[in-house]
Formats: sequence, C-alpha cells, structure tokens
Amino acid sequence: MAPPDPRSLLVFALVVVLLSCHTWEVRATAEVNMEDRVDVMLGDSAQITCMFSSEDGPGGTMIQWFYQVARTGEKKRIYNLESGISLPDKGTPFSERINVNGSAASGAVVMTINDVQLKDELEFICIVKSLTDGTAEGRTKLRVFQTPEAPTIIGAQQGISVQETDLSKIGTCEVKNGYPRPNITWYKNTTPIHSIRDEVNVVPSVTTESSGLYSVKSELSMKVMKEDADAVFSCEVTYFSPGCETRMVETSAIDITVYYPHTSIKVWVESPKGKIKEGDTLEIHCSGDGNHPSTTFNIGVEEKVLIEGKVLVVENVTRLDSGVYRCTALNMESWIEISENTTVFVDYLEDVVIKPEKIIEVLQGDNGEATCNALSSLNTQTTWFKNGQEVSKGHTLSLNDASFETAGTYVCVVTALEVDGVERSGAVRVHVQGAPEILTPENAELEESVDQTVELSCYVRGYPHPTVTWSTSEGKIVPTASNTETDDGLISMASVTVTGDVIVFCNATNTLGEDSVAFSIKAKGSGVIIAVIIVCILLLAILGSVLYFLYKKGKICGRSGKQDLNKGKAGKDNIVVEMKSDNTEEAVLLGVNGEKQLQ
Ligand SMILES: *[C@@H]1O[C@H](CO)[C@@H](O)[C@H](O)[C@H]1NC(C)=O
Ligand SMILES: *[C@@H]1O[C@H](CO)[C@@H](O)[C@H](O)[C@H]1NC(C)=O
Ligand SMILES: *[C@@H]1O[C@H](CO)[C@@H](O)[C@H](O)[C@H]1NC(C)=O
Ligand SMILES: *[C@@H]1O[C@H](CO)[C@@H](O)[C@H](O)[C@H]1NC(C)=O
Ligand SMILES: *[C@@H]1O[C@H](CO)[C@@H](O)[C@H](O)[C@H]1NC(C)=O
Repeated sequence: MAPPDPRSLLVFALVVVLLSCHTWEVRATAEVNMEDRVDVMLGDSAQITCMFSSEDGPGGTMIQWFYQVARTGEKKRIYNLESGISLPDKGTPFSERINVNGSAASGAVVMTINDVQLKDELEFICIVKSLTDGTAEGRTKLRVFQTPEAPTIIGAQQGISVQETDLSKIGTCEVKNGYPRPNITWYKNTTPIHSIRDEVNVVPSVTTESSGLYSVKSELSMKVMKEDADAVFSCEVTYFSPGCETRMVETSAIDITVYYPHTSIKVWVESPKGKIKEGDTLEIHCSGDGNHPSTTFNIGVEEKVLIEGKVLVVENVTRLDSGVYRCTALNMESWIEISENTTVFVDYLEDVVIKPEKIIEVLQGDNGEATCNALSSLNTQTTWFKNGQEVSKGHTLSLNDASFETAGTYVCVVTALEVDGVERSGAVRVHVQGAPEILTPENAELEESVDQTVELSCYVRGYPHPTVTWSTSEGKIVPTASNTETDDGLISMASVTVTGDVIVFCNATNTLGEDSVAFSIKAKGSGVIIAVIIVCILLLAILGSVLYFLYKKGKICGRSGKQDLNKGKAGKDNIVVEMKSDNTEEAVLLGVNGEKQLQ
C-alpha cells in the first residue's frame, strides 16, 4: 500500500474543523441568505436583498453592508443599521447613491444602488450580528452591463489582386462602448472566419474607453481567391446582457473587388456577321476571362501595327485587310502575355468586264458572241437580260442567226451567291447589220381634211443607221421632224400639211441597201366641197332656167292662165292614161286628170 498522501490528510483536517464549526453554528441561529449575482444595466438602480433570521429582537441585531475590493480582498463598510438607526457611511463611493430599506424586524433589508457605475461591479457583503446568535454574512456579486453601439464595417476600397503575395486587407469591423467586452466574429458568406497561418489573419484589438467601456475592432486580412469576388463578408458582434444572456448583432455585408488575371482570351469578328465583303465595316472584339485592370489589350493584323484596346474597327475593308488578326493581353504585374487569333477573309466582287466592249456588230443571219466576267472570291452567277427579260445564263451570250429582233442592249448581271446584295453589272449594245427594212405602216393610206397636219412615222430597221428622206410624189422634200434611234434602227417622223391628195415617200438608205414606203393621203374635205359647189351651180342653173321658163309663160297666163293650164293638161291626158296602166303611183294624178276628164 502507498503511504498516505499529505493532501488527503489536509482535507481530512479541514473536514474535522468544518464539522466542529457546524456544531457551533447550530447553536448560533443567525442566518443570512443572498442571491449570488445581481445584474444591472449601467446607470440603472440595483437592488441587493439581504434576508436573515435571528432569535434576537430587532434591538439586538446589527446589519452592515460592505463591498470587497477584488484586488486586495479588503472589505469596506458602506452602510450601517444599528439600534434603529440606518445610515450610509460617509466618504465612500456609495454614500450618495445608496439607501437601504427594511429593518431588523422585517427579516430582510434591500440595499438600492442608484445610477450604477462600472466600478460598482463588486461583491457586496451583508453582515448580520446578533447579540446572542452570533454573526452571519452573505455575499452578492453585482454585474454591470452596457449594450454596445451598433457595429460598423468598412471594406477595402481598392480592388484586390489574387496575385498579391502578402495577405490583403479585406475590411475592418468595429463595435464601440460595450460592457463587458463584446466579441467580433468575421463571416465569409455564412461561414465564420478564423485565422489560418499565411492565409487568413483576424486581428482583434480592444480599447478601454475613458468611461471604462470597451470598444473592439477587428481587422480581416487574407489571401484573396477568384471565388472571393462573389463572396460577401460581414461581422457578428456578441455581447452579454443581464441574466448572462448572449446577444448578437450583425453588420451589413460588404463585397470586395477581386482582380484576377486573364487565363484565356477570345478574339472574334463581331460584325459583320457571316461573310465579310469589301466596303463593310469590320469590327473585331477581344475579351478575356480575367478582370485585372493592369492588363493591356492589343489587336491587330499579324506583324502590323497593333491597336491598343479590346475593339478594332476597320472601315471600308478591302481584300487587303484579309489576314490573321491577333489579340494580346499583357498583364503588367506579372508580365505574362497571352494571345489568340482569328482569321479574317474579305470577299470581293470586281466590276464586270464585257468582251467585246460596248458594241457588237453582227451581220444579219450571222452568229455573234459576247462574254461577261467579274473577278470574285465568291461563287457567282452571271445572267444576261434584254429589256428586263432574262435571255441567257452564264458568262457567254450567244447570238445565233442574228435578225433585227436580235439587236438591242444586253445587260449582264453578276451576283454573288453566298452574300446578299453583292452584284455588279454592265451592258453591251448589239447592232445587226442589214439593209434598211421599213415596217409597213398601219396608216399607209389615210384621209385627212385640208389644212390638217398629218404626222407620219417610219419605223426603219437596219444598220449602219439608215438615212431617212421624206419626199412627195412630186419630188418635193418633206422636212424630217425627228429621228429617234431604236435598238434595231430608227424611227423617223415627218409632218405633212394636207393641201390636196398627195403621196409621201419615206426612203431609207444605208451602205447595204435601201427601202421605202409610201403614204397615200387623200384630201377628204376638198372633194365634198367641190361636189357641193357643182351641185349648187347645177341647182342655180336649173333655177335660172325654171325662172326663165316661168317668165316666158307668165306673159300668156297674164290674162287667162287657168284656161291655158287646162288646155295644156288636156293635151297630156292621153299620156296620163297610158301611165295609169302600169304606174299606180300616178293615182293622184289620175284622179285629178279624171276630174278634168269629167269636166
Ligand atoms: C423598500 O422601499 C420601497 C419603496 O421605496 C418598497 O416598495 C419596498 O417594499 C421596500 N422594501 C422592503 C424590504 O421593505
Ligand atoms: C468572447 O470571447 C471570449 C474568448 O473566446 C469568450 O470567453 C467570451 O465568452 C466571449 N464573449 C462573448 C460575449 O461571446
Ligand atoms: C471605300 O474604299 C473604296 C476603294 O478603296 C473607295 O473608292 C471608297 O470611296 C471608300 N468609301 C468610303 C466610304 O470610304
Ligand atoms: C492562331 O492560334 C492558334 C491557336 O488558337 C495557333 O495554333 C495558330 O498557330 C495561331 N496562328 C497564328 C498565325 O499565330
Ligand atoms: C423614194 O422612193 C420612191 C419609190 O421607190 C421613188 O420613186 C422616189 O424617187 C424615191 N425618192 C427619193 C428622194 O429617193
């Protein structure tokens, strides 16, 4: 067996002493009961109750209040209640601020401390002395609390680079004037942050204000990562309140600007979308996955001037602007350069080249040909049009067995198939060589009133351009009003003023031959008038002869015209009768004559 431990012996001795004391106290009946702790807010009133029991009457009981100086353990009296006299001790920090009510007779006294100060956070002792029952004491600790002011948070104003080798300051939280000392805890999103060597450093600092209240500051520094760009940081302040409850209050959240370098970049043609053609405005953009401000971007054609910036605009591009465009991002902190390229091809379609140029001359009945080409980087389609109508597809225009219908202007249109709105065109004039041919006019024979003007037109086909002469059958030259060139010849116009019947010739000649047409114009108005005049003259002549006849007759009839008439008529009676047999229309005459026969 081990020898007895000296400490066990000491404990045993103590127990013996305590037991003997207890037996002594059982005889003495004075007892004091007090709460262990009383919590109070700074400036409030604290009440400390001292309950006691004693066999003695009030007269024989003395009640005293002390506080204990924590550092030395020394007791200082602040209140004395003896023989019915109840008074605070003079010259103590409590003299003016305490009062005690209750009396020895009541079995309980309450000491009220007004306007509690931080330095009142002491242990208060209530000692009850009885003449017969001895002395008893109780203790209560007074705890003082002050709710701190709302905490503040300030984040780093500058952006923080992930390339920083030292820890970077994220922010500072501060809480002022609390008691007891509040604590500050940093949070990243919802996770508390603790110091980690070389990664995170949380540095708290406590200031005791002249008032005795505590102000706490906490500074967070850490190594920033790219993900921290999306994180929010905040502080939580915990502090005690009466009843030793822990309360907490949070600051608002801050976020920080995190700069991270570009690890890859992209360069692309922003516009035009699709194929690029000459004349377009080319826009090349460049962007990276980083955000570091001290990164310079340059864009340009390989081995040519690089333009600083993330956007390159080239107006009115030509095929010469085709090439490899490179974008470079240079990090000015690490001097790391990354680059990417994109290939630009500018499509083109040149003006058309038609062969032969401008004019083709083909003999009537012969074959002719024209070609149309336009240099292009694109697939193209060539179409020939005449008078807006498609006549042929392909580069070559074949004119077989040319006739005057073949003559005209042919337009060649070259269109790029892959790119909308890109086309070029040109035209060629086809002349069909042949002797003049005048189209038979619709009004080759016409009538017109005298003094009217007749417009005559002559549609002549033929090439070389025929010369047109207008003339009358009498050989007089009629001035030409106008000559209008057409695809296959010309239209010549002349105006003729009608004076009488006339034939007008339109004679067309060229080196290959001649042709003519005749317009026969009848003077419509003159014939009628002459006829009228002739009729009038005839009528006048008849009238004249009738009048003359009547005049001659009038000389006989002057005396017995009636008889003469009857006589004359009677002479004709036989003729009338004869007529009767074959002409009923003469019935009236017959009647008249018949009457006369009756006479
Ligand atoms: C102390 O005084 C207050 C009034 O000032 C009274 O309400 C309270 O009951 C008293 N306490 C005792 C123990 O007598
Ligand atoms: C503050 O932190 C200290 C040390 O961790 C702790 O003992 C104390 O209880 C904390 N106070 C509060 C109010 O949480
Ligand atoms: C575009 O370029 C062409 C050829 O270089 C030039 O003829 C034209 O005037 C330019 N147009 C503009 C708007 O600059
Ligand atoms: C363009 O970039 C690619 C990689 O993205 C590379 O393989 C190529 O060599 C580059 N071209 C030039 C001309 O630099
Ligand atoms: C026009 O043609 C007609 C008929 O062929 C001919 O008689 C006339 O002489 C010609 N006139 C001229 C001016 O050539």
